Amino acid sequence: MDTVISISNLNKHFKGKPALNDISLSISRGETVALIGASGSGKSTLLRHIAGLLTTDKSGQKASGCDLPACCVSVLGQTIQEDGQLAKKVRQHRARVGFIFQQFNLVNRMSVLNNVVLGALARVPGWRGALNWFPKSEQLVAMRALQRVGMDSFASQRASTLSGGQQQRVAIARALVQGAEVLLADEPVASLDPESSRRVLDTLTKVSKQDQKTVVISLHQVEYARQYCTRVIALKKGRVVFDGPTADLTLELLNELYGSESLNVHGLTPDASEPNTIKSSNEMAKAV
Ligand SMILES: Nc1ncnc2c1ncn2[C@@H]1O[C@H](COP(=O)(O)OP(=O)(O)OP(=O)(O)O)[C@@H](O)[C@H]1O
Ligand SMILES: [Mg+2]
Repeated sequence: MDTVISISNLNKHFKGKPALNDISLSISRGETVALIGASGSGKSTLLRHIAGLLTTDKSGQKASGCDLPACCVSVLGQTIQEDGQLAKKVRQHRARVGFIFQQFNLVNRMSVLNNVVLGALARVPGWRGALNWFPKSEQLVAMRALQRVGMDSFASQRASTLSGGQQQRVAIARALVQGAEVLLADEPVASLDPESSRRVLDTLTKVSKQDQKTVVISLHQVEYARQYCTRVIALKKGRVVFDGPTADLTLELLNELYGSESLNVHGLTPDASEPNTIKSSNEMAKAV
């Protein structure tokens, strides 16, 4: 399998407090991975390390009271950071990684099309980019990306006039124009209604399937992880406590992650016929 993201011995402390503990994992091309875990478990911190927006602890640092091994994070075969230091070419590597945030994805006062064209910034000379002067060919690429996410009819509208779900789809289009081969999405649907959430997740996973892009999405709703992702990585207090096929998620693990009372929040119900398995509320309703 073609490894796209590789992390070894990742440790991160913030002011002496551990945020990520000894994380080693690899993710292959075309995988759709959900990152789940309670608030504060380290999902955003892990994604930011993959994007090279945060650096790991250095080896030998005594923050945890013991010597830490050197950590390496590489994406698409390029080292993003090693032993707490960003690679010299980190800017170039970042162009191959699209990052979609929960909000503040777009430049509000710009049109949808111009926001998407901005994805091409790395390809046009600096002064043109600074003047928002992009060649026609890049505008066509942007328009095609908007078509793919079903947002072409909004091209001339100001970004500020879009709904949250529409903004997220435009952000995905911008990552496509950027030529990103890896898409990292940090709670892209946290503030969206179910219908908009589904459209955003449909778009992300469709793009992954069609282009063999690798997608890692942090999600609060386990039900979405089950519907849209093939693999789940679960974090608890900065440690990986589960890494495997979505189908192997058990009630026991979810109880450990979130507490038994919160299952309903995730749209899940224990399956009475099969102990320790879970079904979505929809599946339960269909079965009755
Ligand atoms: N810049 C920072 N400075 C200090 N502590 C931080 C910083 N960023 C994260 N942390 C701490 O690291 C831990 C992990 O935070 P992180 O934001 O990664 O969690 P999360 O799983 O994304 O949570 P949520 O689901 O609420 O978004 C938390 O204890 C948090 O307080
Ligand atoms: Mg977070």
